[in-house]
Amino acid sequence: MKNAWVLAGILVIAMCALTPKGGAQQKEKKDAAGHEWFNHAVFYEIYPRSFADSNGDGVGDLRGITSKLDYLQHLGVGAIWITPCFPSPQVDFGYDVSDYEAIDPMYGTLADFDELVTKAKAHNIKIILDFVPNHTSDQHKWFLESKSSKTNPKRDWYFWRDGKPNGQPPNNWTSTFGGSTWTLDPTTGQYYYHYFYAQQPDLNWRNPEVRKAMLDCMRFWYKRGVAGFRLDAVDTLFEDPDLKDNPLLPGLDKFGFPNEHEIYNKKLPEVHDVMRDMRKLADEYNAVLIGETWTANVSELRDYYGEKNDELQMPMDLMLTQFPKLSAPLFREHITALEDAGGWPVFVISNHDIVRSYTRWGDGKNNDQIAKMAATMYMLLRGTPIMYYGEEIGMENNDPKRREDVQDPQGRRGWPKEIGRDGERTPMQWSDGPNAGFTTGKPWLPVAPNFKTHNVATEGADPNSILNLYRKIIALRSSEPALREGKYIELNGGDQNVLAFARQDVGGNSVIVALNMSASAQSVKLDGKVAAPSARTTILVAVGVKASEDRNLTLQPYGVYVAKVDSRLR
Ligand code: GLC
Repeated sequence: MKNAWVLAGILVIAMCALTPKGGAQQKEKKDAAGHEWFNHAVFYEIYPRSFADSNGDGVGDLRGITSKLDYLQHLGVGAIWITPCFPSPQVDFGYDVSDYEAIDPMYGTLADFDELVTKAKAHNIKIILDFVPNHTSDQHKWFLESKSSKTNPKRDWYFWRDGKPNGQPPNNWTSTFGGSTWTLDPTTGQYYYHYFYAQQPDLNWRNPEVRKAMLDCMRFWYKRGVAGFRLDAVDTLFEDPDLKDNPLLPGLDKFGFPNEHEIYNKKLPEVHDVMRDMRKLADEYNAVLIGETWTANVSELRDYYGEKNDELQMPMDLMLTQFPKLSAPLFREHITALEDAGGWPVFVISNHDIVRSYTRWGDGKNNDQIAKMAATMYMLLRGTPIMYYGEEIGMENNDPKRREDVQDPQGRRGWPKEIGRDGERTPMQWSDGPNAGFTTGKPWLPVAPNFKTHNVATEGADPNSILNLYRKIIALRSSEPALREGKYIELNGGDQNVLAFARQDVGGNSVIVALNMSASAQSVKLDGKVAAPSARTTILVAVGVKASEDRNLTLQPYGVYVAKVDSRLR
């Protein structure tokens, strides 16, 4: 008996020794519907410069994030994605990484990061980091070595080419941030390739050493307890080695260069080999991969899930961010197409590169009600929502008015056609006090004007606020089986103004969601798919609902109705 205990003790010690620091994540069980943790969690994107500043230097930091974990837990967030917080010259505010295995001192230390992981775990919140595989900073030691001579062992880690005989760049490819993708380096007289700023040289993913080095960087963070990555700009990993010119399209881009059909430097098939390699590694740690996957047609998302579901678990559907206005038929059509793409939908309505949804969809009169309606839609559809910080309180864009105030180089270069992304990156609004409670110093960007009314403290005390609507809706995602696991069923198909759908679980219980996407009151008759619900209907959320009787509803402008029906839909 004693020997058995000793043996068990030795086994436990041996297992602990084999587990990497921070621990490979425990394999978590799938639920009855085959879902994993990331299917149910609400994700929350944090732009660390702007979330919470713990040391008064005007820039947010990791300790600031840690101090807000109670808030995030109360909101119902299950995972936070932190945009790059690694050492960086900050030309592209962190998307120019100069060391993948450390924390920028501006944001804190590795010890601060470890503390954040530990405390987040105690709040049931997972940490997702932002991985930038396409390019490094031009100050990364790999690039400094690579550019030092043509024979440097790291020369081939980046994409170097001779110019044309007349000294012009090797081909016509233009950067998404303006100008040629090629910059001439005087040391060796060759051009290097950068899809983004010149300070962001592209790595050469055809080089096996690059592949290995980058996967090792991911492993470094997995071992520290990270639950996954958001993968930046995955489409741009590979370029045509023959450097064929892209075909030109009519017109000029925002920077005055000809528009191009980017067939030779975007979405090359080799991208998928890398996704599969990254997925294999992620699976070792029960981790999730979220993709920055821009598509013109949502069916393209199929490619990113992988033929055998062996690539990204969460390719983001970014198309809703491009809908300039609300329209029930347009949204309905999009949702159907997304359902048909065959994977687990991932909804995004704003992020750090895109005008905030509050500003984009607001009509100046019903903005708060529109924010509540949009929240209900993307939180209750089948899929995982990724919120952007401040969306839950109705933060608005605060765009710079003068070129000299712009921080984002994209805005400085493209002004006034391209004003940059500062407007959607302003400080989180915690209170109606100085600097909206974000910092005791001078905030790196000015706080948006609506902070007096739209902030966490004020809205927290108002049961009818956008914030409390988010809290309620997020809680429903966990408490209602139909919302957790249920399939999507379209209702009232031809309606021009009201988007209505049901979610139905295997037991046949349903939740009905009806959203008025118009500025006038609408009467809706939920179509015959709903079987005589009246007696067995429980209203879960009603904001701007004038009357609800049996299957007839009258919704005020942008009204929201969510009800549970204890019966099968026909
Ligand atoms: C992604 C990021 C964006 C960044 C770019 C280059 O699109 O979201 O903020 O500027 O990649 O890394």
